[in-house]
Amino acid sequence: MELLIRRMRQEDLDEAAALEAANFSRPWKREDFAASLDMRERIYCVACLEGKVVALAGLICSAPDAELVNVSVDSTLRGQGIAAALLKYLFDEAAACGISDIVLEVRSKNTPAIKLYEKLGFKQEGLIRRFYTDPLDDGLIYWLRKDS
Ligand SMILES: CC(C)(COP(=O)(O)OP(=O)(O)OC[C@H]1O[C@@H](n2cnc3c(N)ncnc32)[C@H](O)[C@@H]1OP(=O)(O)O)[C@@H](O)C(=O)NCCC(=O)NCCS
Repeated sequence: MELLIRRMRQEDLDEAAALEAANFSRPWKREDFAASLDMRERIYCVACLEGKVVALAGLICSAPDAELVNVSVDSTLRGQGIAAALLKYLFDEAAACGISDIVLEVRSKNTPAIKLYEKLGFKQEGLIRRFYTDPLDDGLIYWLRKDS
């Protein structure tokens, strides 16, 4: 099965919202993704297997910085390099739009995501106590900086 990675489109919205709902306690809804597709400063990409959206991620850009958001992979397809491939594609798209540095927030207990970001070169630069609810957790701030 070949993984296809590309920009998110209107026809992906239902599957994107379903994936988000399956992965997060406070999920974005279909209309949130739809609004993002209309905003030039947002870059959303999906990974598809056999025509089905199995992963997504987005960047909210304020050049030269951007915030990484909504990173998620279908729970049945994790551990196969899908998130790493998707994020590399997304970051190449961002670089072409003048983005050099990328920031994100992640739950302190979310080991798979932390390991993913560290593998991609992100470094922890901050911590916000009790940043998350449902369940309560600290937030870690990670940056990927081009010149470091
Ligand atoms: C975090 C998440 C996106 C990772 O997706 P994935 O496709 O399984 O990740 P990949 O297979 O591309 O893994 C890339 C690297 O991440 C790390 N990683 C991924 N899953 C891991 C796990 N369960 N335990 C430890 N490290 C892990 C590893 O370093 C891995 O590289 P390796 O395979 O060479 O060891 C996925 O677990 C997910 O969707 N989680 C729920 C949503 C979420 O928490 N999103 C992040 C919000 S900040």
